[in-house]
Formats: sequence, C-alpha cells, structure tokens
Amino acid sequence: MPGEFGADRIYAGQMAVLGQSNVGSVIKEMWDQEKEHLQKFEELLPKYRARPSMLLPVWNVAGFVLGAGTALLGKESAMACTVAVEEVITDHYNSQIRELMADDPVKNKELLDILKKFRDDEQHHHDTGLAHDALKAPFYKYLYQTIKVGCFGAVWLAERL
Ligand SMILES: [Fe+2]
Ligand SMILES: [Fe+2]
Repeated sequence: MPGEFGADRIYAGQMAVLGQSNVGSVIKEMWDQEKEHLQKFEELLPKYRARPSMLLPVWNVAGFVLGAGTALLGKESAMACTVAVEEVITDHYNSQIRELMADDPVKNKELLDILKKFRDDEQHHHDTGLAHDALKAPFYKYLYQTIKVGCFGAVWLAERL
C-alpha cells in the first residue's frame, strides 16, 4: 500500500518533467495502472482493517521529488528509477503473496488474486523501464542501488509507522 502510494507520486513527478517527451505516453500508461492499484487498495483498506501509514505526507513529497529529480537527469535515469522501484515493489508483493499462501490460500483467495495481478503489472513496469534504456542511464549502478536502498528503507519504515 505505501509502495503504491509512492509509485503514484513517482510517476506524477516523472510526468511533470517528461510528460511531453517521447516517453510521456509510456510513463502515463504505467501511472494509470498505479492509480488503479491505489484505488483498489483504498477500497480494500477498511475491509482488512489496515490503517494508512502516518508517513503518507512524507511519501507524497519524497515520491514526487524522486520521480521528478531522476527525470531531470534524463529519460534513461527516470527509467532506471522505475526499474529499481518496481523491483522492490514486485519483491514486496511476492513476499506478501507467500505469507497469504502459507496462512490460507482458500480464505485469502480474493486478496491473492488481486496481489498476483498487481505483481504482474509491476513486473511489466520493471521490464518497460529496461526496454526504454534504463541501463544507459549515467551511473546506472549507483542510481539503481541508491534508489533500491531508499525504497527498502521506506518500506521498512512504512510497516512500522
Ligand atoms: Fe502498482
Ligand atoms: Fe508499478
């Protein structure tokens, strides 16, 4: 959930900078899917008695700054950001799916179906970033590693606060 919120803001930031560029439509398509994900979770929150993270205002700003900031470095850097972020989100979904399977695959079927669909979407976003020259970003390894560590930190915090 905080991942979805962050992803939405990252794509908003990328669109603010690259919306008119030749990757604008690619980013828009991913952003639209994130909005669907977010909407679904907002529907599900009350049902599973989950509470939104206290840090939502922080993710709001941090996500946008990350998206716009990497986009300002160029479209390859924006795509490198997408690859890193989507990889963390995909892994996070996979671990949630494993937990729900271990708990009870029948009882959790509704939620599992949703999470699997979203996991596939995120994997697709990751692959889209690679297909659009993420690896050609200057200092790709450094950018990718830094963003990944940042995202792990954000997920860790979001699960606690
Ligand atoms: Fe998503
Ligand atoms: Fe995504």
